[in-house]
Amino acid sequence: DRPKLLGISGSLRSGSYSTAVLEALKAALAPTIDFTVLTLNDVPLYNEDEDGATQPEGAASLRAKIAAADGVLFVSPEYNYGPSGAMKNAVDWGSRPYAKGSLLGKPVLVVTSSPGSTGGIRAQGQLRESLSAAGARVVAYPHLAIPNVADKVKDGAFTDEKTSKFLTGGVNALVKEIHLLAAHAKAG
Ligand code: FNR
Repeated sequence: DRPKLLGISGSLRSGSYSTAVLEALKAALAPTIDFTVLTLNDVPLYNEDEDGATQPEGAASLRAKIAAADGVLFVSPEYNYGPSGAMKNAVDWGSRPYAKGSLLGKPVLVVTSSPGSTGGIRAQGQLRESLSAAGARVVAYPHLAIPNVADKVKDGAFTDEKTSKFLTGGVNALVKEIHLLAAHAKAG
């Protein structure tokens, strides 16, 4: 069976490079991976008052999609040296209920990008830390930060071979982690 991956974009805007990176990855991996791209436009801000027996539709749907995926990619822009609020908010929903969140034990891969020269590496560190708090199994290596992203994706595909290899290599590391966990679970 092809691994089922969920790719979450941390940007809400229609012309987003983060979403473009996900679409290009989906196209590059289509033969081997069942890849779904998700944007967070319908996910409300986390509110503990609304996190009881039921949750707002967008939040419940996000949780269900994370739970159903073998692994999740978090592709975030950097806003003021951190991940976007939308992305942090997704981690917050995924981290609850405490010790039972959809992110607990989930293999995840972190990707940041920027039209600038730092590739969002500061946001990457913070996002990794929050995902660790949620109990996700964050792929340790490589650190996938994409600088000058405007020169690297266009019309749903990578325009730079090095970037394509770098990112698909990261996804391979995520798939390896998924297989390791499955083998471990089978061995009891
Ligand atoms: C930015 N941008 C930005 N870039 C960066 O490399 N480091 C940063 O700290 C910030 N901070 C920041 C704050 C806010 C509020 C905005 C709107 C933008 C620029 C950012 O990288 C650029 O807008 C990207 O194109 C955003 O990602 P998407 O929407 O293309 O995925």
